[in-house]
Amino acid sequence: MKNRKGTRRSNPTTGGGSFNLRIGILTGGGDCPGLNPAIRGIVIRALEHGFELVGLNRGWAGLVEGLTEPLNLDRVEEIIREGGTILGSSRTNPFKKDEDLAAALKNVSDLGLDVIVALGGEDTLGVAAKLWKLGIKTVGVPKTMDNDLNCTDYTFGFDTAVSVAVDACDRLKDTAKSHHRTMVLEVMGRHAGWVALYTAIAGGADWVLIPEVAPNIDEMCVHLKQVRARGKNYSLVVASEGIELPHSDDESVSVDAFGHVILRERGVGDFLAKEIETKTGFETRHAVLGHIIRGGAPTAFDRVLATRVGLKAADMVNDGDFGKMAAFVNNQVVAVDLEEATKEIKTVPLEMYKEVKALFEL
Ligand code: F6P
Repeated sequence: MKNRKGTRRSNPTTGGGSFNLRIGILTGGGDCPGLNPAIRGIVIRALEHGFELVGLNRGWAGLVEGLTEPLNLDRVEEIIREGGTILGSSRTNPFKKDEDLAAALKNVSDLGLDVIVALGGEDTLGVAAKLWKLGIKTVGVPKTMDNDLNCTDYTFGFDTAVSVAVDACDRLKDTAKSHHRTMVLEVMGRHAGWVALYTAIAGGADWVLIPEVAPNIDEMCVHLKQVRARGKNYSLVVASEGIELPHSDDESVSVDAFGHVILRERGVGDFLAKEIETKTGFETRHAVLGHIIRGGAPTAFDRVLATRVGLKAADMVNDGDFGKMAAFVNNQVVAVDLEEATKEIKTVPLEMYKEVKALFEL
């Protein structure tokens, strides 16, 4: 086994042998299904490489405040089927306050961390990219239900979120059909329409609204009337929380530690339901899926994806591939630059929207 640091430590996990690197693992940002399978993948492969592991609790807050827990095979044995994250999460940004950054850097040395593996989206991995520039060895693992991380085809959490939302569509259609109503489903996804678009396709919706395309409420209402005119006495609209609204509201809603607007406060579903009822005369209700979309057991796809990127992250540590993220590209897991992955978000390409638009024109 390679020994990059040259120091050997005793190995409490196996009861013998020795460790050659100490890795801190943390999960930051919004939790999502797949984090636990990814942690499991990292731990299994890291132990194989002879690394020692320590869990940093509650994202970057764990590094700032020195909150840790031991991580070994016993701890991760059965977590592949668990949603959330055993390490806890937060939206703490250590670059927001100088004293937090100083505390984080001090803790890297006080906790004896050689490398930090950060599991997260754009914000969490953006911090990992900046720390790497400051000389801290970091490796990123892409997660987010929004699927908006650059340089990777998919992020774990997305497939599970879409599955939950599609189930919600099926349920809403029961009520829609029974009451001859229009139902509006608002889903999370931040400023990318991946979740809404995939949900609308798989849920058989009559209309979809995503942040990448300016909403045309009149066109949507004309279409919903046409749907009724052809004999279908109900309809379903899927809308992303991040769509443009005719009234600018971003100043009146709160922001998080990374400066992101709290989108659920904008009331997209409520607004759309009222507009549709007024403009079509159809009885309309809305449902906001909210955080339900982020909970529960990961799908098999997310378990496999998360495990693969987790295994790769531990290999990247072994290879000295720092300042990089384990990305999923063309069914391969490859190391890409963290800076490149976090410099902008990945939104739905217009060509893809156009490719499926026919589904919402029937
Ligand atoms: O980024 C994941 C996400 O679920 C977004 O889709 C959503 O806008 C946001 O997090 C909600 O954040 P919080 O859990 O902090 O309310």
